[in-house]
Amino acid sequence: MFDPEAFVAQAVEHVRREAKGRAILAASGGVDSTVAAVLSGRALGADLLAVYVDTGMMRKGETADVDRTLKEMGVNHRIVGAHAEFFEALKGVEEPERKRAMIGNKFVEIFEREAKPFGARYLVQGTIAPDWIESGGALRDRIKTHHNVAGLPDVMNLTLVEPLRDLYKDEVRKVARVLGLRVSERQPFPGPALAVRCLGEVTEEKVDVVRGACAIVEEEIEAAAAAGTMTLPWQYFAVLLPVRSVGVHGDVRAYGWTVVVRSVESVDGMSARYSRIPQDVLERISSRITNEMPHVNRVVYDITNKPPATIEWE
Ligand code: XMP
Repeated sequence: MFDPEAFVAQAVEHVRREAKGRAILAASGGVDSTVAAVLSGRALGADLLAVYVDTGMMRKGETADVDRTLKEMGVNHRIVGAHAEFFEALKGVEEPERKRAMIGNKFVEIFEREAKPFGARYLVQGTIAPDWIESGGALRDRIKTHHNVAGLPDVMNLTLVEPLRDLYKDEVRKVARVLGLRVSERQPFPGPALAVRCLGEVTEEKVDVVRGACAIVEEEIEAAAAAGTMTLPWQYFAVLLPVRSVGVHGDVRAYGWTVVVRSVESVDGMSARYSRIPQDVLERISSRITNEMPHVNRVVYDITNKPPATIEWE
């Protein structure tokens, strides 16, 4: 039986024992890295610097939320704005693994630039068990490279500290609740952010569309869950496809983009079933997306389980 309170004490001790000097941490705002930040902050105080890179591909309001949470929890941190650099690096990149690699590399570069003056010798990461299992750890095939600043320790000569390495998502949430973190119930969000929800080449315009669509999916599903129409799914979001189809706006022909609504039930993200969402909730999502997103004229619902699909589309 997993005991989150005992884990907190052990993890603080683990970080203290492993990090014998200054440490940096890549904060994404997700449950995993936020829990890692708070535990390491308790262990190291001002000797920890959490760096959050705003890639321009985050969800609506996300950067401000992360800033507030880390402040509230007393974690020493820094927010770095890097929109232009990321969009430039992703120009012309379509292949999903290459996209992940480009983002990882860019992240390493920025992280190195920001963190060097701090004099860190250690890197704390919020890696959890499914991250390394699915990235081809142990005996399994690589499904996709989960991006948790891969390559950073080599480049920067940093020693890795991973206090959450043996935990699964549901256990991390239990720890977050014990720590009193507002992000404890937050749905998972991938490291490469909206870039992997924008299939094909990533542009600012497409990211704006998928950001808007994700916000609508979240708002409508959360409202329906609060009203008791449905239970809150494990993860729910939108994906923008580089597929255009013919539609009609007013009485004018439209040739617009396609948005996929994806919602799944899972325990740890290793396998998942698509959510059975009430039709009227789906309909509200569809009409809001087509009304509010200028270039979208078709919304489809993904009814694939994992396996054979994965949860994210890239
Ligand atoms: P997939 O798409 O592989 O995703 O079925 C399983 C869970 O992991 C999330 N995900 C990521 N999380 N870094 C992360 O920390 C990543 O690069 C990444 N890619 C996917 C995904 O949202 C789902 O919850």
